[in-house]
Amino acid sequence: MAKIKTDKTPVELLTARQARTEHARLQVEIAGHDKRYYQDDAPVVSDAEYDDLRKRYNAIEARFPDLRTLESLSLKVGAAPARGFAKVRHVVRMLSLDNAFAEDDVRDFVGRIRRFLNLGEDEKITFSAEPKIDGLSMSLRYENGELVTAATRGDGEEGEDVTANIRTIGEVPQKLKGKHIPRVTEVRGEVYMTKADFLKLNERQKAAGEQIFANPRNSAAGSLRQKDPKITASRPLGFFAYAWGEMTEMPADSQSGMIKWFEHCGFTTNPLTKICHSVEELLAFHRKIEEQRAGLDYDIDGVVYKVDRLDWQERLGFVSRTPRWAIAHKFPAERAMTRLEAIDIQVGRTGTLTPVARLESVGVGGVIVSNATLHNEDYIKGIGGDGASLREGRDIRIGDTVIIQRAGDVIPQVVDVVLDKRPKDAKPYHFPKKCPCPLKTDVVREATSAGEEGARNRCTGEFACPFQKIQHLIQFASRRAFDIEGLGEKQIELFFEKEWVKEPADIFKLQARNGKHKLEDLEGYGETSVRNLFAAIDERRTISLERFIYALGIRQVGETTALALARGYGSWQAFHDAALKVTKGDAEAIAEMDALDQIGDTVIAAVAAYFGESHNRGIVERLTREVTILDAEKPKTDSKVAGKTVVFTGALEKMTRDEAKATAERLGAKAAGSVSKKTDYLIAGPGAGSKLAEAQKHGVTVLTEDEWLKLIS
Ligand code: IVH
Repeated sequence: MAKIKTDKTPVELLTARQARTEHARLQVEIAGHDKRYYQDDAPVVSDAEYDDLRKRYNAIEARFPDLRTLESLSLKVGAAPARGFAKVRHVVRMLSLDNAFAEDDVRDFVGRIRRFLNLGEDEKITFSAEPKIDGLSMSLRYENGELVTAATRGDGEEGEDVTANIRTIGEVPQKLKGKHIPRVTEVRGEVYMTKADFLKLNERQKAAGEQIFANPRNSAAGSLRQKDPKITASRPLGFFAYAWGEMTEMPADSQSGMIKWFEHCGFTTNPLTKICHSVEELLAFHRKIEEQRAGLDYDIDGVVYKVDRLDWQERLGFVSRTPRWAIAHKFPAERAMTRLEAIDIQVGRTGTLTPVARLESVGVGGVIVSNATLHNEDYIKGIGGDGASLREGRDIRIGDTVIIQRAGDVIPQVVDVVLDKRPKDAKPYHFPKKCPCPLKTDVVREATSAGEEGARNRCTGEFACPFQKIQHLIQFASRRAFDIEGLGEKQIELFFEKEWVKEPADIFKLQARNGKHKLEDLEGYGETSVRNLFAAIDERRTISLERFIYALGIRQVGETTALALARGYGSWQAFHDAALKVTKGDAEAIAEMDALDQIGDTVIAAVAAYFGESHNRGIVERLTREVTILDAEKPKTDSKVAGKTVVFTGALEKMTRDEAKATAERLGAKAAGSVSKKTDYLIAGPGAGSKLAEAQKHGVTVLTEDEWLKLIS
């Protein structure tokens, strides 16, 4: 990692030229710390060190106001840094919502619900349609009616304790009103700042020479993350209640009933919320709210539809981290026009070469964007369909004016090119034939998996390619995988360069080997940061199975798939044995994996490819010696069918096949697609055929649907 020399000259003595260099250097350094802190949750400097950098940066801008350009951090970063909130574990996970963008996505959503619940065409589904507030979700825990904890969402399982700050919000009752309050009530909703208050706050901040926020959401986040609740109290924040977590009793049996109950308890709920009875009504609601959007006093980024009946919500359940009974129907993403200055290539974890557009900086929806993805070679050439909305036949050249789009948290994308503005000297881009990695290997074009547009270019360096190794290590330590605080991109690059960490197992050997390396000698590392890093690594020596599987970096195995595999196999031993068998082509093991919810051929092939490489097996083996992998949480182990393998066949009358499978899985059973000697129960409805014969051959217990329902009741 290149070190830029620190200029210790007092700001008052800097020449204009020195100031410019120092300002630029600080900008890079602070942005790096912000990313590590806000995105990776892995800071490497203390609060005080960070504050000093900020102060110096602001002082330079105060003396040389010309330096305050669009790129300035004072315009860019939202939240003021306040660190060290205690962690709170959510008893009931805080989930997110699946997104719908097109009207057809909404029709599909309703269709899926109908099929899942086996509802007749004339049976009405009632929905609660609500604006999707663009703020911060919050979980408020009341015990015997008294507010005891307020926690942010965090990663959904663990958030930050911001109780003292939340108590300053007038719309959050300290004590719930009403007579019959459950012993535990967790109210969930959104903390937000109105647009008017956001503008006023920014004016105040500007006058005081303090940080300017990019948008109301950032200012709400920044206000909540204050260490001093007095500061939060001076920032006007609102709260809309719309959901709940742990409840020892349910005061209503519908979403709309719960909303009414929240109002009785003293909460504010969103006045635009409406009951709808059909897809058409939902879509009309979306259109109406979109028209009102600009005139509302708070930011929204879409609407949310929720099945109103809670018994139906329960039957519908969840697919990994999102409910089947709700969806967010987003408003179109925000777009902006800017100039494409250059195209760089980034090498990913699996060797894929992704072209990245370097853009003239432009503000899109309150955030300044200077990079955007160009997907792949064909996309730039304007061939290969319009999957990501670049029109067929339009190529992208360097110097072109392009349209970029940002939607939520996804990486900004180049979605179109403005041909009228193409300069004469715009240069067509030639995709490199050699990988930019130090090996300079040949680049190969590879067909993509189903659903993806355009061919992918890959570096053939595989295990020898340092870029790929580094990307894999970065993913390994990242928040969703091993989540090692203080081990972000920069540290991994540095440790890799020094050859201290060449593969995941080395991370856990860092401390033992530190005698040799002397981490403390590195610039930017003090005794405390080294101690913190080792502590953070030690903390992760015990890891959940789904995180472990995800962290291995098997192609096609993202978080959701890792969770499905973890739930399906329960333990590392079981998964590992199965994976090795799958690799050898063992038909039974393949069928078993295939039978898991959400796992199909692509994943199976990727698992086989991964464990087929002796290099990978070595990495995994060395890693498993360093860590303890916890068994996956079985949803319910006290049910009679936990751990059993069941197969459904024939017609079911009381529920759909999907619902039957989901219920079995919720109770800890494995719902398989075919009968083998490992099957415990075959649930056979009328019309059962070959599976029934197969079950009889293996002596598998055969149940009717009613017998099954009795067993699980
Ligand atoms: S319901 C199980 N309702 O959107 C789902 N969420 O992408 C619980 N949000 O994290 C969430 N307005 O921060 C729900 N009316 C609303 C919402 C809403 C905003 C946010 C919330 C959540 C995110 C999901």
